[in-house]
Amino acid sequence: MHPVAALQTEYSPSTRDPEVELLPLPVSGIGFVPYSPLGHGFLTGQLTSPADIPDDDWRKTNPRFVGEAFEANLRLVDEVRAVGAEVDTTPAQVALAWLLAQGEDVAPIPGTRRVARVEENTAADGVVLTADQLARLDALTPATGERHNEANVASMDR
Ligand SMILES: NC(=O)c1ccc[n+]([C@@H]2O[C@H](COP(=O)([O-])OP(=O)(O)OC[C@H]3O[C@@H](n4cnc5c(N)ncnc54)[C@H](OP(=O)(O)O)[C@@H]3O)[C@@H](O)[C@H]2O)c1
Repeated sequence: MHPVAALQTEYSPSTRDPEVELLPLPVSGIGFVPYSPLGHGFLTGQLTSPADIPDDDWRKTNPRFVGEAFEANLRLVDEVRAVGAEVDTTPAQVALAWLLAQGEDVAPIPGTRRVARVEENTAADGVVLTADQLARLDALTPATGERHNEANVASMDR
C-alpha cells in the first residue's frame, strides 16, 4: 500500500475536462500533472493549417486537427497569442503560465524534441499573468473535436 503521490491527465487552456469532477475534489497532498499542456502543439501557435502536419504524424487524423475543428481551434489560439503579446511571451509560455497559476501542486509536462523549446517552456515559470488575463484564458471555449480518434478509443482499456 502507498498513498497516491500524483495524478496525470490531459489539461490545458483548451482541454478543461478535469475541471468538471477531478479538480473540485477536496484532496490535498496529491500533485496534479497536466499532460499535453500545449494541446499537442496547437496552443503554441505554430500550426496554421492542417497542411502543417506531416502525413506520418498521428495528429493528421485526430479530430481536433482536421477540417472545421482545426479552424475553430485556431480562433482559440488567437486569444492565447493576444495575451502573449501583452506580456511579451510566446503562446506556449502563456498556456504553461496559466496552468502553473492553477495551483502550487500543478506541474505541467510539455513535450518537445528541441532544447531551445525546453528552455522556452521552462521559462514560463517566470511569466506572471494578471487576474484579467487569467480570466480571459479561463473563459476560452474548450477545443472543438474529440480528444481521440475512433482507433485510439478502441484501443483504450485493453
Ligand atoms: N499519461 C498519458 O496518457 C499521456 C498522454 C499523452 C501525453 N503524455 C505526456 O505528456 C507530455 C507532453 O504531451 P504531448 O507531447 O502530447 O503534447 P504537448 O506537450 O501539448 O505538445 C507537444 C507539441 O508541441 C510542440 N512544442 C513544444 N514546445 C513548443 C514550443 N515552445 N513552441 C512550439 N512548439 C512546441 C512539440 O513539437 P517539437 O517536439 O517539434 O518541439 C510537440 O509537437 C509528454 O511527456 C507525453 O509523454 C502522457
